[in-house]
Amino acid sequence: MAKKLDPSWKIPEHVAIIMDGNGRWAKKRGLPRNMGHRQGGKTVETICEEAYRMGIKYMTLYAFSTENWSRPEDEVSALMNLLRSYMKDCVKQAEKNKMRVKVIGDISRLDADLQESIRVLEKESEKNTGLRFQIALNYGGRDELLRAVKSLCGDVKEGKVLEAEISPELFSSYLDTAGIPDPDLLIRTSGEQRISNFLLWQLAYTEFYFPDVLWPDFSKDDLIDAIAYYNIRERRYGGVTHV
Ligand code: IPE
Ligand code: IPE
Ligand code: MG
Repeated sequence: MAKKLDPSWKIPEHVAIIMDGNGRWAKKRGLPRNMGHRQGGKTVETICEEAYRMGIKYMTLYAFSTENWSRPEDEVSALMNLLRSYMKDCVKQAEKNKMRVKVIGDISRLDADLQESIRVLEKESEKNTGLRFQIALNYGGRDELLRAVKSLCGDVKEGKVLEAEISPELFSSYLDTAGIPDPDLLIRTSGEQRISNFLLWQLAYTEFYFPDVLWPDFSKDDLIDAIAYYNIRERRYGGVTHV
């Protein structure tokens, strides 16, 4: 029987996902790793649609980390080609699902045509009022924090910001995720239990869920399981709820 959301459940407003296990998915089938990435791309499309239907407002997916450049050259170039075609398809998808898409990470290291497709996608989807979808691309939490610190230092030096004004809220506004609430739930597929440099600042009070399923197999039912898990967690934010 198909799983269903319980109407009494709280739906996390922002879900972040470390999409892991594409390579293992392909290996299990005797296929090249790239086939796993391709299948993983299809999962992205389904999950974005399902998430929004379930009432999730923001999704942030980790597509390529600052450390992923260290993979073999042919895998990196296959991933870049996949991202290239994904950005183009995503324009239509965003229009259909009313998604507003933003890429986070340092895109200046990407090829000029890919940077241009990203700008087009962001611009075309800017006015959409559906799912707010962030794609983390050449993203690293440490890199993001350092870029934010440098930009803040520049503003302090120019007198635009006073040192005394620096607060967590002000600092957040220098991050790539400015204006987006912190994730309520982080899902990392494939059974690995680490952050791998994802959203280091933003995950401070996020609930973590680590299912064994490999990303290309991640389905609507797995997303429902993740929300069910979220609903049995008790978020305390450093306070006490039982006295
Ligand atoms: C995640 O799948 C996708 C990216 C990092 C781009 P992997 O490629 O890491 O898959 P595994 O971990 O080798 O199975
Ligand atoms: C994290 O997965 C990055 C993405 C999913 C894009 P990795 O597979 O690269 O992480 P490690 O190497 O297992 O930590
Ligand atoms: Mg991996």
